[in-house]
Amino acid sequence: METFDNKNCTINNAAIGVMDSGVGGLTVLKQLLSCCPQENYIYFGDTKNLPYGEKTKEQLIEIVKEIFEFFEQKKVKAVVLACNTTSATAYEELKEKYPFKIYPLIQSVARYMSADKGLLKLGVMATEATVKTQTYTKEFKKYNPDIEVHEQACPMWVPIVEKHITNYDEEHAIGDYLKNVLAFNPQKIILGCTHYPYLMDKISKYAPAELFINPAQIFARYIIEDLKQNNLINTSQTGSVHYYASSNPDSFRSNAKMFLEIDETPQLIEI
Ligand code: DGL
Repeated sequence: METFDNKNCTINNAAIGVMDSGVGGLTVLKQLLSCCPQENYIYFGDTKNLPYGEKTKEQLIEIVKEIFEFFEQKKVKAVVLACNTTSATAYEELKEKYPFKIYPLIQSVARYMSADKGLLKLGVMATEATVKTQTYTKEFKKYNPDIEVHEQACPMWVPIVEKHITNYDEEHAIGDYLKNVLAFNPQKIILGCTHYPYLMDKISKYAPAELFINPAQIFARYIIEDLKQNNLINTSQTGSVHYYASSNPDSFRSNAKMFLEIDETPQLIEI
């Protein structure tokens, strides 16, 4: 398939697709809306296939293909992978195959943050599937070979957020994962899954909140700067947001409140 030609584009008013397994990607959408409210956004929450972190690379590529086909039908100008796990597993495989620009979270954030040459020890909390690929380590080392990165998988964190699990052993499920990363003595720790900012109250019992980076804001800035450079910003003054979910749209809407108040129940789309 032909790659989207930025130079001759006349599709500034087309929508931007934003996707994640559930409500976590709303942390990115929130930042996009605050930087660029005049864009038209389509958010896809793949609640049917959640949690992505437990899936294989092959399964995730197939899932993302289906979501990209949905976005292709919607004739979007760009797709934001508001999801670390699919940025790590599916982006490389699919990046040239669709007629829209694709913004992967990890790669974009590493590029943006690489300007800080003083950052030499970085911790990352992420899903198992993300950590398995070591994408954070590879991407940061591209710009600074001297940086040391310690990636820690936190398999219980997404279910805790999406399924409102409360009866868990906090010392183990939160404390032990953090202790591993803190022992590495990082200058900063990235919350490498878009669901994790919701757990900040619990996380900050074990380490100062200032140590942690929620990359959503950096990512949104990167996307908007890139859209500007490629003359892809919407020229109209009014924007819109529409939501889709692959199962349980009602629970998506109530879970969404953790990150963003949404004023419509998502449309159910079977993928
Ligand atoms: N929120 C996604 C991420 O940033 C996926 C989490 C999941 O479904 O496991 O990786």
